[in-house]
Amino acid sequence: WRSSLPQLDSVDRSDEDSSGGDIDWDNLGFGLTPTDYMYVMRCSQGDAGFSRGELSRYGNVELSPSSGVLNYGQGLFEGLKAYRRSSEMGGYTLFRPEENARRMQVGAERMCMPAPSVEQFVHAVKQTVLANRRWVPPQGKGALYIRPLLIGSGAILGLAPAPEYMFLIYAAPVGTYFKEGLAAINLLVEEEIHRAMPGGTGGVKTIANYAPVLKPQMDAKSKGFADVLYLDPVHKRYVEEASSCNLFVVKGGAVATPATAGTILPGITRKSIIELARDRGYQVEERLVSIDDLVSADEVFCTGTAVGVTPVSTVTYQGTRYEFRTGQDTLSRELYTDLTSIQMGLAEDKKGWTV
Ligand code: COI
Repeated sequence: WRSSLPQLDSVDRSDEDSSGGDIDWDNLGFGLTPTDYMYVMRCSQGDAGFSRGELSRYGNVELSPSSGVLNYGQGLFEGLKAYRRSSEMGGYTLFRPEENARRMQVGAERMCMPAPSVEQFVHAVKQTVLANRRWVPPQGKGALYIRPLLIGSGAILGLAPAPEYMFLIYAAPVGTYFKEGLAAINLLVEEEIHRAMPGGTGGVKTIANYAPVLKPQMDAKSKGFADVLYLDPVHKRYVEEASSCNLFVVKGGAVATPATAGTILPGITRKSIIELARDRGYQVEERLVSIDDLVSADEVFCTGTAVGVTPVSTVTYQGTRYEFRTGQDTLSRELYTDLTSIQMGLAEDKKGWTV
């Protein structure tokens, strides 16, 4: 079957229909719909780096019980999206995939792993999208979420870097991340559990950052909140980010977001939104954002690949609920439109962000 797999240059581009099984494109959430193919590339001890990868049927992967990722959490992930362009234009758009590649390289250095080159990463993403193109939602209904993984797949018992690594990409069609859809969300400030600490791994996208936030996230969800907002672990005064996204506060003509000084994930949507807000004439600061800055803001919103630009209607801190502006005439709405127009190919991409 391998010889019949679509390779980038031989993909039949005439098949542009969205025929992803029995999917209800109007009600896509952020669930896992398995698609047809995944991409796999390996690197063993002594190799100069990752060598040629290939597409294979989407399915389970075989791992040693003593693999580095299973025992010591040696793993990273990325997230990016492919959008279907209008039928007149045809094709698909990726948003800044080389940024994901570079972020994975930075994370790999921190986690003692080899990483694919930017070219290998972007090529693999393109292969994965084209092989699964029937799962890219119709324009305006969502995107194909692409999940690259880099894991220590080799067996190791003593604490040390694994002797072998696997780079994998799978994809799934998705709609909005929060069950609220595009509506504003309610956040709860978590005071006891912290997401990251200075000198830790909060600034890279290691898998080990995510399991520890499940408990506060589940507790908050059981109380009706969409997500948790974390405070810095030293002063417990500065807001950091939510479990799955970065945070922005707006007051008058000024916008602020926590600086990425090691504990904040350097989001690609975050970086793009900073630029788009500046283009609109806003002064944007990357700095410490105190809980006082947050609760006195006019507007608050979250950004991320999965969440896009999501407005926040309330934040609850120490039992008090603070409300913020949402809806029409908000900066978050304008930035959402600016960003998604570029991502979907509806606006001219003056910045050269799309592939
Ligand atoms: C993304 O936004 O792509 C992420 O990786 C966040 C994840 C928790 C869904």
